[in-house]
Amino acid sequence: MQSGSTHHTNGASPFPANFTWGAAAASYQIEGAWNEEGKGLSVWDMVTRQPGRIWENDTGNTACDHYHRYREDVALMSEIGLQAYRLSISWPRVIPAGTGGINHAGLDFYDKLIDELLSKNITPWVTLFHWDFPYDLFLRGGWLNADSPKWFADYTAVVVDRLSDRVAHWMTLNEPQCFIGMGHLKLENEHAPFLKLGMTEALLAAHHSLLAHGLSVQTIRARARKAPLVSWAPMGCIYCPATESPGDIAAARRATNDVYDGHFWNNRWFGDPVVLGRYPEEGLKAYAKWLPKFADGDFEIIRQPLDFYGLNIYSGTLVKADADGKPVVVTQPPGHSHTHFNWKLTPEALYWGPKFFAEQYNLPIVITENGMSNCDWVSLDGKVHDPQRIDFLNRYLLALQRAISEGVDVRGYFQWSILDNFEWAEGYKHRFGLIHVDYETLKRTIKDSAYWYREVIHTNGASLKPGYRKVTDPVPAHSINRPVVLEPQIIGI
Ligand code: GCO
Repeated sequence: MQSGSTHHTNGASPFPANFTWGAAAASYQIEGAWNEEGKGLSVWDMVTRQPGRIWENDTGNTACDHYHRYREDVALMSEIGLQAYRLSISWPRVIPAGTGGINHAGLDFYDKLIDELLSKNITPWVTLFHWDFPYDLFLRGGWLNADSPKWFADYTAVVVDRLSDRVAHWMTLNEPQCFIGMGHLKLENEHAPFLKLGMTEALLAAHHSLLAHGLSVQTIRARARKAPLVSWAPMGCIYCPATESPGDIAAARRATNDVYDGHFWNNRWFGDPVVLGRYPEEGLKAYAKWLPKFADGDFEIIRQPLDFYGLNIYSGTLVKADADGKPVVVTQPPGHSHTHFNWKLTPEALYWGPKFFAEQYNLPIVITENGMSNCDWVSLDGKVHDPQRIDFLNRYLLALQRAISEGVDVRGYFQWSILDNFEWAEGYKHRFGLIHVDYETLKRTIKDSAYWYREVIHTNGASLKPGYRKVTDPVPAHSINRPVVLEPQIIGI
């Protein structure tokens, strides 16, 4: 926990002195060069070839062409003043078949990218798996294959051997909830490999991915040359109290900590084994009829010491306590604020999320992703004006600042994303970037929000416009389960 924290509403630097300000992206979403210099295929190369899977049949074949333009991109990161950049490694670019022969040209690419970042004083934070699973291993059963954890550990070793003299920050898996739930489960599939498995098989795939995480952490710690800081980047499924009454806060905590049958939108099925070495009771109950057999020894592998807990948080769901204290979702009024993705504007998720996770796992928190999709375009004046993103980030960062000021140990924040990019099944429909990309010409244009973010970084958050205050007025009882207006949380921006 943060000691001697102070609460600044404006003026002096409100974030801890060693706080890390960064931005993130992922290999398949930006690199392009899908079949160049020896790269193997991933499941995303596979599904983007299937007509009708992806919005407008977009592919990541070229994406932002970052593979060829990484020097320009790093120069832009430097212009924005990023202190850190969270990138991911494409497994099939490094090991084309997923196991066995190494593609040295692929490894060289990451090697040069790391050097380029370091030459501009930008610290690389490396994610080993952000969803581009090797196609050849998919043909061997993918995450259902009991060898998959070992495949991932072997791949980890190759990357760590090459980069760990310069890289200290490592994350194993990005959002298992998504690539397992949305990639493997019957009802939810909209991510590669678009399988339609039942819960039991999806739970098995999830278990293997957790074992892969554990073996990967062991591998990093055993082989890294530079003292490593290791974690992962799961999704934060955050429930926020509709008011700050003790009952609503307890309901939001309970909803955030619960596991729900039929899907993977929860935190603890994934987090508990990784941090505590066991599946949560709530999950064993919710999934009771689906559970495959897990070997006891597995949990010793899955549970590895972590240096921080990464969290991807974009929005939260508001809940109230009903008469029995159970969480009830509070709907928002017609016309409520939402992003281009139709995700609700809920800055308080960046307050409650870190708070609930710090309570649960007692680890420092890093926000590994947060940002918003917009429909930005280049204006007639040649610039990209994105005031909504500025306001969005300001609100969320104030909420994060509040968590820090109340003692939650938050070590860093990564805006998603440095560049507009390929948004998975949504193709190029949404723009999340601080930098606009014209996908025809591949021209980059720094958006207004990036210049704004540069100032936030430069002042360590002191340039944020204050305006966050607590909700003190209780929501009237009759409005439970009805649309209620909950905007007074944020004022004065
Ligand atoms: C995720 C992934 C990113 C997305 C981003 C916006 O959270 O889904 O980590 O790859 O692009 O989150 O959806």
